[in-house]
Amino acid sequence: GAPVTVDISKMEPGQLIRVAWRGKPVWLLNRTPEVLETLKTLDDQLRDPQSSESIQPVYTKNSTRALKQEIFVAIGLCTHLGCSPTFRPEIAPADLGPDWKGGFFCPCHGSWFDLAGRVYRGVPAPTNLEIPPYRYITDTQIIIG
Ligand code: FES
Repeated sequence: GAPVTVDISKMEPGQLIRVAWRGKPVWLLNRTPEVLETLKTLDDQLRDPQSSESIQPVYTKNSTRALKQEIFVAIGLCTHLGCSPTFRPEIAPADLGPDWKGGFFCPCHGSWFDLAGRVYRGVPAPTNLEIPPYRYITDTQIIIG
Protein backbone atom coordinates (compact mmCIF):
# COMPACT_ATOMS: atom_id res chain seq x y z
CA GLY A 1 0.00 0.00 0.00
CA ALA A 2 1.88 3.00 -1.27
CA PRO A 3 0.69 6.45 -0.18
CA VAL A 4 -1.58 8.28 -2.61
CA THR A 5 -1.27 11.98 -3.41
CA VAL A 6 -4.48 13.87 -4.11
CA ASP A 7 -4.69 17.34 -5.65
CA ILE A 8 -7.65 19.18 -4.13
CA SER A 9 -7.04 22.53 -5.85
CA LYS A 10 -9.94 22.05 -8.28
CA MET A 11 -12.50 20.79 -5.79
CA GLU A 12 -15.70 22.80 -5.82
CA PRO A 13 -17.61 23.50 -2.60
CA GLY A 14 -19.75 20.47 -1.90
CA GLN A 15 -17.79 18.20 -4.23
CA LEU A 16 -16.84 14.64 -3.29
CA ILE A 17 -13.93 12.91 -4.99
CA ARG A 18 -12.99 9.27 -4.67
CA VAL A 19 -9.55 7.72 -4.76
CA ALA A 20 -8.26 4.24 -3.98
CA TRP A 21 -5.77 3.51 -1.21
CA ARG A 22 -4.70 0.00 -0.21
CA GLY A 23 -7.60 -1.38 -2.20
CA LYS A 24 -10.12 0.70 -0.30
CA PRO A 25 -12.19 3.66 -1.44
CA VAL A 26 -11.15 6.93 0.17
CA TRP A 27 -13.40 9.94 -0.06
CA LEU A 28 -12.47 13.60 0.04
CA LEU A 29 -15.35 16.02 0.52
CA ASN A 30 -15.12 19.79 0.31
CA ARG A 31 -17.62 20.85 2.96
CA THR A 32 -19.46 24.15 2.64
CA PRO A 33 -19.94 26.62 5.51
CA GLU A 34 -23.58 25.49 5.68
CA VAL A 35 -22.51 21.87 6.16
CA LEU A 36 -20.04 22.83 8.89
CA GLU A 37 -22.81 24.71 10.70
CA THR A 38 -25.16 21.73 10.45
CA LEU A 39 -22.53 19.39 11.89
CA LYS A 40 -22.55 21.41 15.11
CA THR A 41 -26.24 20.65 15.69
CA LEU A 42 -26.24 16.86 15.44
CA ASP A 43 -24.42 15.58 18.53
CA ASP A 44 -27.49 14.40 20.44
CA GLN A 45 -28.58 12.27 17.47
CA LEU A 46 -25.23 10.53 17.09
CA ARG A 47 -23.90 7.37 18.67
CA ASP A 48 -20.29 8.54 19.04
CA PRO A 49 -20.27 12.31 18.46
CA GLN A 50 -16.75 12.81 19.85
CA SER A 51 -15.43 9.74 18.02
CA SER A 52 -14.09 8.25 21.24
CA GLU A 53 -14.86 4.72 20.02
CA SER A 54 -14.10 5.24 16.35
CA ILE A 55 -10.94 4.75 14.34
CA GLN A 56 -9.19 7.92 13.28
CA PRO A 57 -5.75 9.53 13.66
CA VAL A 58 -5.30 11.61 16.82
CA TYR A 59 -4.79 14.75 14.76
CA THR A 60 -8.36 14.44 13.47
CA LYS A 61 -9.89 14.21 16.96
CA ASN A 62 -11.82 17.46 16.77
CA SER A 63 -15.38 18.52 16.06
CA THR A 64 -15.06 18.22 12.28
CA ARG A 65 -12.84 15.09 12.28
CA ALA A 66 -10.40 16.76 9.91
CA LEU A 67 -7.02 18.49 9.70
CA LYS A 68 -8.64 21.42 7.87
CA GLN A 69 -12.29 21.65 8.67
CA GLU A 70 -13.55 22.05 5.10
CA ILE A 71 -11.88 18.95 3.74
CA PHE A 72 -13.24 15.69 5.11
CA VAL A 73 -11.18 12.58 4.36
CA ALA A 74 -12.57 9.13 5.17
CA ILE A 75 -12.55 5.51 4.15
CA GLY A 76 -15.76 4.97 2.20
CA LEU A 77 -16.78 1.67 3.75
CA CYS A 78 -19.63 1.17 6.19
CA THR A 79 -18.44 0.11 9.64
CA HIS A 80 -21.25 -2.45 9.81
CA LEU A 81 -20.41 -5.02 7.12
CA GLY A 82 -18.37 -3.00 4.68
CA CYS A 83 -20.78 -1.85 1.99
CA SER A 84 -19.99 1.48 0.36
CA PRO A 85 -22.42 4.17 1.54
CA THR A 86 -24.00 6.59 -0.91
CA PHE A 87 -23.20 10.32 -0.83
CA ARG A 88 -26.47 12.10 -0.09
CA PRO A 89 -25.70 15.75 0.67
CA GLU A 90 -29.23 17.04 0.18
CA ILE A 91 -31.50 18.06 3.06
CA ALA A 92 -34.67 16.01 3.64
CA PRO A 93 -34.96 14.20 0.28
CA ALA A 94 -38.25 12.36 -0.21
CA ASP A 95 -36.75 8.88 0.07
CA LEU A 96 -34.81 9.54 3.30
CA GLY A 97 -37.33 11.77 5.03
CA PRO A 98 -37.47 15.07 6.90
CA ASP A 99 -34.85 14.11 9.50
CA TRP A 100 -32.09 13.69 6.90
CA LYS A 101 -29.60 16.59 7.20
CA GLY A 102 -27.22 15.48 4.48
CA GLY A 103 -24.77 12.64 4.90
CA PHE A 104 -23.87 9.18 3.73
CA PHE A 105 -26.52 6.47 3.51
CA CYS A 106 -25.62 2.81 3.50
CA PRO A 107 -28.08 0.96 1.28
CA CYS A 108 -27.24 -2.49 2.64
CA HIS A 109 -28.93 -2.21 6.05
CA GLY A 110 -29.83 1.45 6.29
CA SER A 111 -27.07 3.03 8.35
CA TRP A 112 -26.92 6.82 8.46
CA PHE A 113 -23.73 8.89 8.78
CA ASP A 114 -23.40 12.66 8.84
CA LEU A 115 -20.98 14.63 6.65
CA ALA A 116 -18.23 14.04 9.22
CA GLY A 117 -18.84 10.29 8.87
CA ARG A 118 -20.42 10.09 12.32
CA VAL A 119 -23.00 7.38 12.75
CA TYR A 120 -26.49 8.16 13.93
CA ARG A 121 -28.15 6.30 16.78
CA GLY A 122 -30.41 3.36 16.09
CA VAL A 123 -28.77 2.01 12.93
CA PRO A 124 -26.66 -1.14 12.49
CA ALA A 125 -23.23 0.49 12.03
CA PRO A 126 -21.43 0.49 15.41
CA THR A 127 -18.88 3.25 14.87
CA ASN A 128 -18.12 6.28 12.74
CA LEU A 129 -16.53 5.95 9.32
CA GLU A 130 -12.82 5.31 9.64
CA ILE A 131 -10.38 8.08 8.80
CA PRO A 132 -7.09 7.05 7.20
CA PRO A 133 -3.75 8.63 8.05
CA TYR A 134 -3.17 11.69 5.87
CA ARG A 135 -1.32 14.97 5.80
CA TYR A 136 -1.01 18.11 3.71
CA ILE A 137 2.18 18.56 1.74
CA THR A 138 0.98 21.89 0.34
CA ASP A 139 -2.27 23.82 0.81
CA THR A 140 -3.78 21.87 -2.05
CA GLN A 141 -2.07 18.48 -1.94
CA ILE A 142 -2.88 15.71 0.48
CA ILE A 143 -1.02 12.46 0.95
CA ILE A 144 -3.16 9.54 2.08
CA GLY A 145 -1.24 6.84 3.90
FE1 FES B 1 -23.83 -0.70 5.98
FE2 FES B 1 -24.84 -2.95 6.98
S1 FES B 1 -23.11 -2.72 5.69
S2 FES B 1 -25.58 -0.93 7.18
